[in-house]
Amino acid sequence: AGHYCHESRRRRLVIVANRVPNPRERGAAAGGLAVALQEALAGREALWFGWSGQCAEATPREPRIVRHGRMTYARLDLGEADYRRYYEGFANASLWPMLHYRLGIAQFDREDYAGYRLVNAAFAAALAPLLRPDDTVWVHDFHLFPFGAELRRRIGRGGADLRIGFFLHVPCPPPSVFGALPRSEELLADLTAYDVIGVQTEEDAGHLREALQRAGHDEAARRVGTWPAGIDAAGFAAMARRAAAGPEAERLRASLVGRSLVIGVDRLDYTKGLPHRFSGYGRLLAGFEGRHLGAVTYLQFAPVSREEVAQYRALRRELDELTGRINGQYADFDWVPLRYITRAVARPTLAGFMRIARVGLVTPLRDGMNLVAKEYVAAQDPGDPGVLVLSRFAGAAGQLEGALVVNPLDPDEIAEALDRALSMPAAERIARWRGMAQAVWTHDAAAWSRGFLAALEGGPAAAEQAA
Ligand code: ADP
Ligand code: F6P
Repeated sequence: AGHYCHESRRRRLVIVANRVPNPRERGAAAGGLAVALQEALAGREALWFGWSGQCAEATPREPRIVRHGRMTYARLDLGEADYRRYYEGFANASLWPMLHYRLGIAQFDREDYAGYRLVNAAFAAALAPLLRPDDTVWVHDFHLFPFGAELRRRIGRGGADLRIGFFLHVPCPPPSVFGALPRSEELLADLTAYDVIGVQTEEDAGHLREALQRAGHDEAARRVGTWPAGIDAAGFAAMARRAAAGPEAERLRASLVGRSLVIGVDRLDYTKGLPHRFSGYGRLLAGFEGRHLGAVTYLQFAPVSREEVAQYRALRRELDELTGRINGQYADFDWVPLRYITRAVARPTLAGFMRIARVGLVTPLRDGMNLVAKEYVAAQDPGDPGVLVLSRFAGAAGQLEGALVVNPLDPDEIAEALDRALSMPAAERIARWRGMAQAVWTHDAAAWSRGFLAALEGGPAAAEQAA
């Protein structure tokens, strides 16, 4: 271990992810992957390689390179056709629904799949010349299953020393679901190229090991480990404290005129359970002897995401309609019960708003971890914290035992939890919050990356995880 310990200090870290943040646009990054990584890597020397978020006529061979502090960003545009096949097609219309247990809406198209493999190969070809033989390469998420194998193919024997790890940010369903997606056996074979394979929860790890074993990849199954993603808890808490005293928070507070605030923050994605959540809120207003009418305001941020995928457009229409119906039915001339905003907001603003909210409402139907839940906890005032209402199907539910845990498919259960949260005495709120804060501060972004990288590079924390 001592040998590796020394080595890990020498190795450069190379991050490979579909999303690469634009260093000039710090602030609003709607997506857990970019948030967890940005917060984990602060201050470390690294190369972050991946898609620029932009399209070109054809995918170029060479990335654009920008240096910013100790971080180098290498970003590749995607050709229109590649973007459609790889990102909209296989990644977001096939893999994303399948991995979130939604086989019913998963589509499969052989050309999309071929495009997905082609883009992975093109990414590997573009990264290979930038690599040093002793780099540590950390590949992220479902867009990039084949990347490690493609990279090894390109580097050949010269890369024998190269460590390549993979982290899946989203859930991993049981083999019966995973295996239903055509070509999924090739994706499992792709994983054998990685030295370490990380997932968010023990449940995900169990499923993935079983899938790998059934496919005859026992050795790869032994490389699967659990490292729950986290946030920079202390940083987010400080940000929330500052922002809560700022002008935007002041405007929000003034607009509430004493009403309790419920907040929701999600990408506009069908895995987030927004229609069920809106219905649950409608039932809160309709029931409970009418005591919540005029007494509560629900603010939902849902920045539009993956708009070109049909399911996302349909969801947006559904939410537009539901919002109109709830407000039409329950609003008064001086009270709008549901404020629904489909834009991203700056991170500090969000943090301040979370601190003002009496309830954080986080009810995904499935979620790998869900960082919003952790952000809500970190943002609270320890002396007067709010209550987290959390889906049992978010990875975070395994860590945040002080939350009011609900089945997100049951709008009545959501309504009951909201009712309970809104009337919870301070002593209970504080006790619940303390337990959750402990978990959020312990399993933060730094611990996540430290744990994973220790396993990948060797070193003392690796033994800790293996135990
Ligand atoms: P996912 O990765 O599926 O989007 P997470 O909850 O893990 O889900 O991460 C979402 C991240 O994006 C969080 O850091 C959250 O604060 C951020 N985010 C979500 N919605 C917004 C928004 N409207 N404005 C700014 N940031 C947002
Ligand atoms: O965390 C899950 C995830 O799919 C990330 O991989 C992704 O960056 C994020 O959600 C946001 O989605 P997208 O990159 O497609 O906008």
